[in-house]
Amino acid sequence: MDGLRTRWPNSEVLFASKSLPAVGMYRLAQDEGLSVDIAGGGELRLALAAGVDPGRIHFHGNAKTDAELRMALDAGIDTIIVDNDDEIDRLERLLERPQKLLLRVIPGVDAKTHASQATGGANSKFGLPIDQAERAIARMRSHRLMRFDGVHLHIGSQILGTGQFAEAVEKISAVGTFPTYDVGGGLGVAYTYDEQAPGVDDYLDAIVDAARANLPADARLLIEPGRSMVARAGITLYRATTVKRTGRTFVAVDGGLADQMDIALTQQRYEAILADRLLEPWTETVQLVGRQCESGDLLVDGAAMPPARIGDLVAMAATGAYAYTMSNNYNGALKPAIVFVADGEARLVTRRETYDDLLATHAPAMAAALV
Ligand code: LLP
Repeated sequence: MDGLRTRWPNSEVLFASKSLPAVGMYRLAQDEGLSVDIAGGGELRLALAAGVDPGRIHFHGNAKTDAELRMALDAGIDTIIVDNDDEIDRLERLLERPQKLLLRVIPGVDAKTHASQATGGANSKFGLPIDQAERAIARMRSHRLMRFDGVHLHIGSQILGTGQFAEAVEKISAVGTFPTYDVGGGLGVAYTYDEQAPGVDDYLDAIVDAARANLPADARLLIEPGRSMVARAGITLYRATTVKRTGRTFVAVDGGLADQMDIALTQQRYEAILADRLLEPWTETVQLVGRQCESGDLLVDGAAMPPARIGDLVAMAATGAYAYTMSNNYNGALKPAIVFVADGEARLVTRRETYDDLLATHAPAMAAALV
């Protein structure tokens, strides 16, 4: 936040809360002076429950419903990032008070990342192409309650170079001159021993240099980092439940794909260690697998570690972003707990799901079984 502000004083950092939507995290973000972006009614409820000031909430999404927009308007959130013309129709019907709006524009930058993480190319489902933006902006400008404030872009996630961020800023400047430009998130992180990611300073330099060259000097500049804020702050702890030597060594843990979807989705490589026997020689290379019924439930393809035993503590590094948020109940898995650790103190902020939580939504079937 300070890094952006010293480079471009009229700026704001929004924590992309989809990367870790936990009440404890929303509260931490607010305490750290960050604003937050949300992508739906659920994240709005979590943010409000955490006590986030609605004046610091920005609402994204390519398929917002009337009910979600109404929730956001009732809460008095700062900005809605409009994705499409249908949404302008909805807002025409729903607005009763002035509302600040940004328009998401497709910059036409094909980010160099996994296809599922690229969102700024010409065929993106998010936002409007530049040639359709003008009409949407004119509609918003002509409405008495719509306070059109500027444009938004987001080219994708886990981006390991800075050039495309700068390119996107340049592209979006062509849409016009506005008070606000939100240039999204996307800065990647190093997940493996070998991966190289740009530092935050390099990223900010690239964006701010491009802003100086292309945007009005008095514009407000917003960024929306998620992964780069929380990925490396998080580790996932598992217990080894089975160790099987069948030609290859499989170390199976008490979690897997259900809490680590990212690997199946993007084939991102992670690193894992045996946390309780770190100093013993790492003589075995194992397939670290989960307990879900998929062969794709492979957490690390070839992890070096001391010969594993049942009950060993396995730590998977850099899982603070997009792991918890995509966790699910596959095979009846229970979503994990989240523990914050600082200065040697551990604090439970989200408890593990229970079997009762799992059953709760099935109450109608259970009630039917009783009659
Ligand atoms: N702003 C918008 C509009 C976004 O859609 C996203 C992420 C961000 C900001 C934050 O991007 P970040 O700084 O975290 O890269 N499921 C995928 C990640 C999806 C990212 C979605 N959008 C994965 O597991 O890698």
